[in-house]
Amino acid sequence: MSIVDDVALSTPEFWAAPEAEREAGFRRLRDDAPITFYPEPEYGPELPPGPGYWALSRFDDVMYASRHPELFCSGRGGTNIGDLPDGIAEFLGSIINMDDPRHKKLRGLVNHGFTPKSLAALLDSVRERTTEVIDAVAEKGECDFVADIAAPMPLAIVCDMVGVPPSQRQAVFAASNVILGVGDPEYVQTMEDLMAAFMTLHQMAMELGEHRLTNPADDIATTLMQAEVDGERLTVPEFASFFILLVVAGNETTRTAISHGMWALHQNPDQRALWSGDFDTHAVNAVEEIVRWASPVIHFRRTATEDTEISGQPIAAGEKVVMWFNSANRDERTFTDPYRFDITRSPNPHLGYGGGGPHFCLGANLARREIRVMFEQLFQRLPDLEITAEPDILQSSFIHGIKRMPCAFTPGG
Ligand code: HEM
Repeated sequence: MSIVDDVALSTPEFWAAPEAEREAGFRRLRDDAPITFYPEPEYGPELPPGPGYWALSRFDDVMYASRHPELFCSGRGGTNIGDLPDGIAEFLGSIINMDDPRHKKLRGLVNHGFTPKSLAALLDSVRERTTEVIDAVAEKGECDFVADIAAPMPLAIVCDMVGVPPSQRQAVFAASNVILGVGDPEYVQTMEDLMAAFMTLHQMAMELGEHRLTNPADDIATTLMQAEVDGERLTVPEFASFFILLVVAGNETTRTAISHGMWALHQNPDQRALWSGDFDTHAVNAVEEIVRWASPVIHFRRTATEDTEISGQPIAAGEKVVMWFNSANRDERTFTDPYRFDITRSPNPHLGYGGGGPHFCLGANLARREIRVMFEQLFQRLPDLEITAEPDILQSSFIHGIKRMPCAFTPGG
C-alpha cells in the first residue's frame, strides 16, 4: 500500500480516526515522504475533484513556503485545499486569500488595533470579561469547559473590538462553528448549511457597516468604513468579508487553544502544579507551548506562482502546497521530545500562528494575552477544576477544535 493510501489525508476517515493514529501518520510522512503529492478530497457530486496538492509535513518546508509569498501565493483560488473562483475567495476569506500589495494595504488598516500598545489598553477588558465568564459558572460546580469557559471571553472581546453588539454574539458563535466546522456532520451536512452561516454574518456586517458610515464609534467597523485605500473607500461588501474573517478567526482559534491547554494540563498534573505554583515565571513559555500543543489551525494552502522547488522537490507553476502546521509543530528535527507537553519549553519556534510570512496571525498578541489571563484566573478561582471526560474532537482537517469537554470544580470560586 502506498503511503498516500496508508496515511490518507484526503479522506474523512483519516480525520475521524483517534488522535494517536493521525499523529503516527504525520510522523511517517515527516520521516519517509515529507513532500508527497495527494489527490484532492472529494467535495460532493456537484463539485468536480481538484488536481491534488503537495503535502508539506516538515517544519523547514512549511516555513519555506510560508516565507516565500512571491513563489507560494494566497490569491489564486484561496488558501483552503479546494479551489474557489477568485471573487468568491475574497468574498469568503478577505485578506487571508489576497496577496500584497492589496493584502498589505487592507491589513494595514486594522494593524494598529493589534499592536502591543493598543492591546495594553484592552487588557482590562480581557480581565473583566474573564471575570464575568468565571462568575457565571463559579456556583455551578460543573459545566461544559468549551461552551461555558473557553468560548465566551474571546468571542466577547473580538465582538467588542469589531463593533458587534452583545445581543448578536451568540449568532456569531453559532455561525463560526459552522464555517470552521466543515468536515464534521454535526455542523455541516450540505453546502447550503455553510452558505447560510456565511450569509448570517454577511447580513450582520452589511447592517453594521452601513450604520457606521453615519454613526461612527470607537471600533474596527468604523475604522474600516471610514478608511481609504488608494483613494477609495472599502465597499460595504468588502468590509463584510473582512468582518467575517476577524470575528471567525478571533473567537474559534483562541477557544480551541484554551480548551486544549486545559486538557493538556489535566493530563500533565506536574506541569499544572509547576505553572500554578509560580504563574508569572512560566506564563510566557506556557502560553506558547499551549499553542504549539493545540495547533488550533491545522493547515493553510498556497499556490506556486512559477516552476520552483522545495527541498529539491520540483513544484510546477499552479500546483498547490498544503502547509501542515500540526505536523511542523511535532517535527523531531526542530523540537526535542515534541510529544511532551512542557510549559518550560524554550526556544519554542512553533508555527501555530503561521510560518512568519505576510499572513502571520494578526491576532497573535491578543490571543497570547487572552490565554494568559484565562489561566491566571482559572488557577486563582477554580483551582481544583478537573476535566471529567475525554474531549469531543471536531472532525476537521482545518481546525483542531474541541466541541465539548465536561468539567467539575468546588463551587464558590
Ligand atoms: C490561539 C489563537 C490563534 C491561532 C492559533 C491563530 C492562527 C492563525 C494562523 C495559522 C493564521 C494564518 C497564518 C499564515 O498563513 O501565515 C492566522 C491568520 C489570521 N488570524 Fe489568527 N489565530 C489565532 C487568534 C486570532 C485572533 C484572536 C484574531 C483576531 C482577533 C486573529 C485574526 C487573524 C487574521 C485576521 C488572520 C489573517 C491575516 C492575514 O491574512 O494577513 N487570529 N491565524
